[in-house]
Amino acid sequence: MIKIAPSILAADFARLGESVQAAEAAGADYAHVDVMDGVFVPNISIGIPVVAALRKITRLPLDVHLMITRPERYLADFVAAGASIVTVHVEACDHLHRAVQQIRELGARPGVTLNPATSLETVREILPYVDQVLIMSVNPGFGGQEYIPTMTDKIARLAAMIRQTGRAVDIEVDGGIDAERAAEVVAAGANVLVAGTAVFRYPGGVKAGINAIRAACLVH
Ligand code: DX5
Ligand code: ZN
Repeated sequence: MIKIAPSILAADFARLGESVQAAEAAGADYAHVDVMDGVFVPNISIGIPVVAALRKITRLPLDVHLMITRPERYLADFVAAGASIVTVHVEACDHLHRAVQQIRELGARPGVTLNPATSLETVREILPYVDQVLIMSVNPGFGGQEYIPTMTDKIARLAAMIRQTGRAVDIEVDGGIDAERAAEVVAAGANVLVAGTAVFRYPGGVKAGINAIRAACLVH
């Protein structure tokens, strides 16, 4: 089953609650929350109070993507605020295994992610401990960027690596996903699709955007 995780970065922040509720009503599976610190990525977005506010107005699992340096410092705060899945960058952690264990002990589902140029080998040793690996298909920091085409093969290689472990680990993909790319990445092995622009800025509205992605995935 393919999961769709609308990225709230593309929503109207002045109407954030309504936007997330519209995504929930339209059949989204998660709300994807992009946290940026202006250090790890060249942009600043939102943080713990926004996660806490969203937790009160939606039942959707909050899929929190931490684009912050040394995220270990804030894991407890994000889980206490209501994060369901917490994903950390391999490039941002001094002790990735410790961070992942910490997320699990706090009661959330741990995920790891890697930038487009980071080798899949950096996640091999952590695969037995995570529930999700997020392939960044753009350089993190901004919504609305072009999908990097070589990431499709990276997804396929990750899927093979995960099969070798014999464990079920979700493959999430984030950046430049629209209906057409959705079909391509699902065929490669992804099963959680993050989409910001293609959901919250879809010309026909949020529901039509989600439906278009879902319909494209059904082909596979
Ligand atoms: C990029 C973020 C993404 C981004 C996706 O740093 O992690 O979640 O907002 O936006 P689109 O779907 O517009 O590429
Ligand atoms: Zn993201």
